[in-house]
Amino acid sequence: MQLETVVGDALAKYIPDLARLRMTVFREYPYLYDGSEAYEAEYLRTYTASGEAIAVLARDGDAIVGASTGIPLAAETEAFVRPFEALGLDPTTVFYCGESVLLPPWRGRGIYRAFFEAREAYARGLGGMAWMSFCGVVRPENHPLRPAHWEPLDAVWRRFGFAPQPKLQTSYAWKDIDQPDTTEHPMQFWLKPLG
Ligand SMILES: CC(C)(COP(=O)(O)OP(=O)(O)OC[C@H]1O[C@@H](n2cnc3c(N)ncnc32)[C@H](O)[C@@H]1OP(=O)(O)O)[C@@H](O)C(=O)NCCC(=O)NCCS
Repeated sequence: MQLETVVGDALAKYIPDLARLRMTVFREYPYLYDGSEAYEAEYLRTYTASGEAIAVLARDGDAIVGASTGIPLAAETEAFVRPFEALGLDPTTVFYCGESVLLPPWRGRGIYRAFFEAREAYARGLGGMAWMSFCGVVRPENHPLRPAHWEPLDAVWRRFGFAPQPKLQTSYAWKDIDQPDTTEHPMQFWLKPLG
């Protein structure tokens, strides 16, 4: 497997791959995302419009089997920027990590850490970034679709240097696979200082 980093305008070519991976992998708990091409087009437009977004692609031969994205927070939508402003954190000093998605056969080989390292190196190279951030969906403990063996990634994220910030939360809408319509989902932000 090889990792390839694409930045800015070069991302446009890979939007169909990103949409395919997101729609496949995020059907899993806890995301339960019942994706659509229309939703993907809207969501990923933020990344192509920015000029400073990054995608780290995991390739196996010609196939793109995983991807991870990031973008300066100031280029994100209001739902992501507003909680930082409300807390007095300057959005222009935050690099926001979007999704990391890897198809199951390629998991367990350390790619997740490599995804974070590539994005951090890029964020540091931009200059002016004091924080890395991402957010994860918060599901109730007793959610009916929670698999018996499922474990949250919290311990992994802590090992990667992130901590949850109780005062930094937002909500984001998508359609769950077990719901008839789009619903809002509580999202918890995590932060890592870049020092
Ligand atoms: C998250 C994901 C990208 C991890 O990919 P991966 O390459 O298999 O992860 P790695 O092999 O790099 O493992 C990294 C660490 O996470 C742990 N880990 C990976 N997947 C895990 C899981 N589902 N549950 C618990 N721990 C997990 C590994 O044990 C490892 O810990 P270590 O560093 O102490 O050894 C992949 O499982 C995935 O696509 N999941 C579904 C989407 C998702 O949850 N994305 C993250 C939020 S956007």
